[in-house]
Amino acid sequence: MKKGRIISIMIVAILLLLAGCSRSADREMIAGSESQSEGVSQKTVIGFSQVGAESDWRSANTQSMKDTFTSENGYELIVEDGQQKQSNQIMAIRKFIQQEVDYIILAPVVETGWDTVLHEAKSAGIPVIIVDRMIDTEDQSLYVAWVGSDFELEGRKAGEWINQFLQEKNIAHANIVDIQGNLGATAQIGRTAGLTQVCETNENMTLIASEAADFTQARAREVMTGLLTQYSDINIAYCENDNEAFGVIEAIEAAGKTAGGDIANGEIMVVSFDGVNKEALKDVQSGKIACIAECNPNHGPLVKSTIEALKADEAVERFSYVEGALLVHDNTVSSISVDGVEYTTTVVDEAQIEGKQSN
Ligand code: AHR
Repeated sequence: MKKGRIISIMIVAILLLLAGCSRSADREMIAGSESQSEGVSQKTVIGFSQVGAESDWRSANTQSMKDTFTSENGYELIVEDGQQKQSNQIMAIRKFIQQEVDYIILAPVVETGWDTVLHEAKSAGIPVIIVDRMIDTEDQSLYVAWVGSDFELEGRKAGEWINQFLQEKNIAHANIVDIQGNLGATAQIGRTAGLTQVCETNENMTLIASEAADFTQARAREVMTGLLTQYSDINIAYCENDNEAFGVIEAIEAAGKTAGGDIANGEIMVVSFDGVNKEALKDVQSGKIACIAECNPNHGPLVKSTIEALKADEAVERFSYVEGALLVHDNTVSSISVDGVEYTTTVVDEAQIEGKQSN
């Protein structure tokens, strides 16, 4: 064999060897220090692409995954924060594929635009579990299961609660503004649709404006400040999460008005979603927020059961719903009905506030 040819073969051999090494190095990085000392990880590696940290609910949801997929439970969890950008989440999924994780958990910021990257995960043989919000796809084989809340039901429950409240207080008519979440997210689509349906079927409720505030306190404050300048007759602010409610209350107070349920005397009633932290529940207790349709962020245990069923080659539940209560300031409305199902309300007390982990 010619000398040049021998050298080329040696170079190719060295390159192949290096490629192999860097692959196992990647894997050890994922596996963390414990596995690095063992050499090969025995743990199940999970890549979690989270929307971001826009709300207290989101932080609680991330914490639920961290508390569940622990090293003691036999897992290595890699969390990638998408900072509310779909492009970041797509990049994170591609990184997980390169890292050869065992499972991918995706909390999608919006519903559309996932087909290409989820096809890549499927081709790599990595099962994907969707949490919280849904994805909109015709190819149902792109994910194995979904865990989350029924956002439209939440919206209808909050809308029906408003309707009942107005009737109990003999208020003939109310103007409502909808402070929406980020447009295209399932939580926004469902909560907006729920309120719209109730307004369309009840003449006492008029939706005078809808504007997106991205589920954040700062943006909600800006949006509500603008709406208060534009409309002098707002009776109810329907906020699509608690962080928006905090911003809306700030705007109401800065405009010299009061957040509260005494609509007949000019107060602006705030209704909201989530109920994950003490601050929101304290606002319900004081009456600044009249009602919260609770949204449970604790998805970790349900996702773990799904993964354990997949590992054992058992059938998995394709859609698992978490449920939430209606947390209210007082007992003006004791229960509401949606599609023939009765939902009782829960008046917030000290014990519930103390029961919440975060501020
Ligand atoms: O998708 C769930 C919603 O997203 C929560 O209600 C909100 O707080 C979060 O940002």
